Amino acid sequence: MTQIDNVLHENRSFPPSEEFRAKARYSSEEQYEADYRRSIDDPEGFWGDVALELPWIEPFDQVLDWSDAPRAQWFTGGKLNASAVCLDQHLGGARANKTAILWEGEPGDVVSYTYTELHEAVCRFANVLKKRGIQKGDRVAIYMPMIPELAMAVLACARIGAIHSVIFGGFSASSIRDRVEDGACSAIITADGGWRRGKVLALKDVVDEALSEGGASGGVHTVLTVRRTENPVGWTEGRDCWYHELAAEVDADCPPEPMDAEDTLFLLYTSGSTGKPKGIQHTTGGYMVGTYLTTQVVFDLREDDVYWCTADVGWITGHSYIVYGPLANGATCVMYEGAPNQPHPGRFWELIEKHGVTVLYTAPTAIRAFMRWGDEHVDKHDLGSLRLLGSVGEPINPEAWIWYRNKIGGGRCPIVDTWWQTETGGIMMTPLPGVHATKPGSCMKPFFGIDPVVFDSDGEEVTGEGGGYLAIRKPWPSMLRGIWGDSERFRETYWSRFEGNLYFPGDGARVDADGCTWILGRVDDVLNVSGHRLSTMEIESALVSHPSVCEAAVVGRPDEITGQAICAFVSLAAGLEGDADMEAVLAAHVAKEIGKLARPAEIRFADALPKTRSGKIMRRLLRDVAAGKEVTQDTTTLEDVSVIEKLQGR
Ligand code: WTA
Repeated sequence: MTQIDNVLHENRSFPPSEEFRAKARYSSEEQYEADYRRSIDDPEGFWGDVALELPWIEPFDQVLDWSDAPRAQWFTGGKLNASAVCLDQHLGGARANKTAILWEGEPGDVVSYTYTELHEAVCRFANVLKKRGIQKGDRVAIYMPMIPELAMAVLACARIGAIHSVIFGGFSASSIRDRVEDGACSAIITADGGWRRGKVLALKDVVDEALSEGGASGGVHTVLTVRRTENPVGWTEGRDCWYHELAAEVDADCPPEPMDAEDTLFLLYTSGSTGKPKGIQHTTGGYMVGTYLTTQVVFDLREDDVYWCTADVGWITGHSYIVYGPLANGATCVMYEGAPNQPHPGRFWELIEKHGVTVLYTAPTAIRAFMRWGDEHVDKHDLGSLRLLGSVGEPINPEAWIWYRNKIGGGRCPIVDTWWQTETGGIMMTPLPGVHATKPGSCMKPFFGIDPVVFDSDGEEVTGEGGGYLAIRKPWPSMLRGIWGDSERFRETYWSRFEGNLYFPGDGARVDADGCTWILGRVDDVLNVSGHRLSTMEIESALVSHPSVCEAAVVGRPDEITGQAICAFVSLAAGLEGDADMEAVLAAHVAKEIGKLARPAEIRFADALPKTRSGKIMRRLLRDVAAGKEVTQDTTTLEDVSVIEKLQGR
């Protein structure tokens, strides 16, 4: 619970300006309360009305079937296609020639697509997939840089009813292999490379490595490669094909496949508190309804907005708030390939000025990094086009919030601090920008249809201001429908913590006297490093898979920039020395096993790890050691007290 000390003392609040309020879709507490009330008292009526704003191929008969809880079914009987919601519906009218994607590569190349052009590109992409024999229901892994073809690949899968499984470009070959095998993917879409910090990230090579060691990933019959960086790539005849070659052979006529509302749209793997990542499963109807409404209301979207979400499509934020939600609303979306400080630490601000960005949605870790790089990089740019700011991925500390508001938002832009998860599909708690007087660090109020509650460890509702475990009482349309291939784990992880089919997100929360929610961080063994979810157990398994390691425990320690940093405690096999070389070897090993994002910031060596007499590693104690705190906890249950002294001495 990293920020509890800060937020307990935070009592500033910032109402929206009159100017903002005057134009906002929701501009008063009464208006929010009225719709919120209806969404809770009559969820079927509320969501049914929202759903009717989407183009259905066949109408739904029932809004919600919760009879087989926790397996929800929304909009049963309805048919639609997510790519048609994002594209085809905009072609008949004024949006046909509106910019859908405005993309800038890291080297500064700019390409934009109107809705008509994006539609054509997606249809062509879909026909390429069909030409390679990919069919409705097949799983397709996508491992790509942040280029427009990534959004096209996602939408092309949706168009033909194939289930996409996007794997973030920072994951390693073995992480790809695990995900491809778990989802039994038959194809992988990748690119020769992408630009990152002035260098080519050779993605196709990583895919080749993932497929080289056989296993069930032998089921992959196609590796479709988009050309981006023109670096040399290895080639397996028969399996590998260039996107541009096949695209030239197909036409751009591809009717959208009518999908059942409950057909799976995608899988997205995320870390849980056990070693194996979970394939979170989202379906078509509910997910589209949820992302459509949240994008429209939370960002108070206007027709002339230039909207920029800086996430990567490899994470849920990119799925919901770069691709599906904004395009379903006919928005103009900026997409940027590279690093925020390439070639200079003002790149984001330069992009905002250049493209006239009006809505910026980014992560606290980026905000904190920009703060450290210095105001002078911001001051060089005119950010006057901005009218709304968003934050997502981790708790935002009040200091970063205030800097974001003043330095980036010029004191005039409301900030929406949005709390949600891969599993929830869309935003769950947030202020509405024209309504709420926001408090720095609070995600404020539940979104429509979301019914949160805080429990203590005995499952009793916490009514005062004390913190506890967050739970959600009602189903909502964009909720996960399962963990791919593991319905037992689905029930166990999310639905068994509290009685009565309540969803357990794994976060702690506190509700203050004004009814505003403060998220206190994860209550399980999940770390949040730079807004990326990582499981301590996954990193531990990576460490112990190295022959030099005897035992490992991984904890998070607070970090000014990344929120949490990974700190590993390792005991080595007999006779080995825990020196800087060993630390480098093990850090590189973790990067190879999982990806660079999981590389420990610090590895401490000890002859043994602190354990209770029953043999359990004392993680709470290790967290204190990692944070450099005095160990105040009772160590009487510890098997060998001298271990702690050694770990603290480094
Ligand atoms: C954390 C990212 C505080 C939280 C959308 C959650 C947040 C996890 C916020 C999900 C926020 C996300 N304030 N904490 N505004 N947003 N989190 O699945 O711990 O990558 O459980 O989804 O990030 O991470 P995920």
